[in-house]
Amino acid sequence: MNADLTTRFTIEKVAKSKISAVDFENLIFGKVFSDHMFECDYIDGAWQNPRIKPYQPLTLDPSSKVLHYGQAVFEGMKAYKDEKDGIWLFRPDQNQERINKSSVRMAIPEFPKEWFFEALNRLLVLDAAWVPKGIGNTLYIRPFVFATESGVQASKSNAYKFMIIMSPVKSYFRGEVRVVIAQQYSRAANGGVGAAKAAGNYGGQFYPTELAGKEGYQQVIWTDDTSHTYMEEAGTMNVFFRINDTLITAPTSDRILDGVTRKSLITIAEHAGIPVEVRKISVQELVEAAKNGSLKEIFGAGTAATVSPVKSFAYDGVDYPVPPQEDSYSGRLKKIILDIQYNVTEDPFGWRYKVSEENIN
Ligand code: COI
Repeated sequence: MNADLTTRFTIEKVAKSKISAVDFENLIFGKVFSDHMFECDYIDGAWQNPRIKPYQPLTLDPSSKVLHYGQAVFEGMKAYKDEKDGIWLFRPDQNQERINKSSVRMAIPEFPKEWFFEALNRLLVLDAAWVPKGIGNTLYIRPFVFATESGVQASKSNAYKFMIIMSPVKSYFRGEVRVVIAQQYSRAANGGVGAAKAAGNYGGQFYPTELAGKEGYQQVIWTDDTSHTYMEEAGTMNVFFRINDTLITAPTSDRILDGVTRKSLITIAEHAGIPVEVRKISVQELVEAAKNGSLKEIFGAGTAATVSPVKSFAYDGVDYPVPPQEDSYSGRLKKIILDIQYNVTEDPFGWRYKVSEENIN
């Protein structure tokens, strides 16, 4: 119990919920937001005034540093509802640690762990009705931090906001995913911010992804920035390859996000007896595997997308289909992780976190 926290946390509830106006069957990812949001300010060297209030627009000075220098980081999490209306988070400790790691890299002050969990529990208890039921339906949670100090001097901000907003969602990708392997543009470089969940890492992908979209590809698989010969990650997901019966994914690095779904799938696969290799995988190896038939699967893994099978990849102007597999690894792994997330099965890894009023100070 943290007395300081209890006395300082304030809540302003909506006068009337807007939930009855939401069409839960036809949600577009991240477009509709729940009734409440969390907001907290960093001023004079300390996080202060943690508060929950009705979801609403912000007022920002036009010279706020985030608008000019992109000093912003975020996280992606989901809340899952079980058959008995219990609400669960999946490895939230990982997101809490990662947002602070990302913050450190972007010269943003770390946010207190206790406040992170207090805010999540309070928000989710308050907006419990917004967590949709049924496998595949979730409340996507977006914690984010950004620089609010006014002034266009190119230096780190002395003021920030930490916020959490939440959006009921269905799947991230509709239909099958086709990807193209990057040969010109890069997502990240050694010594850069690729491993941080920095806002600009995503913004920087929009243009090459738009070009790929015009050719019919939903995602780019990013390659190493120096030689463009090793595969790293897809735009919003880490990426896995199955060659014969071995599952392969690139090791994390300065350039690759340490994805929570990625590391969970590695553990689940090993537990299920699937041979896993965390190693560099070259485009050449992939193309050869596609040509000789040993490439069985490619799939992306991420919080928003969960596990997304890739239907084909393109390289050097050639499309290589990835034929569907019976009893695919992606299908098996997806079922195991979803069953854990939705409290359908035992959780042998201790990853589930129950949202509860008891966690509120
Ligand atoms: C997530 O999986 O939470 C992501 O970060 C993807 C997001 C950019 C939509």
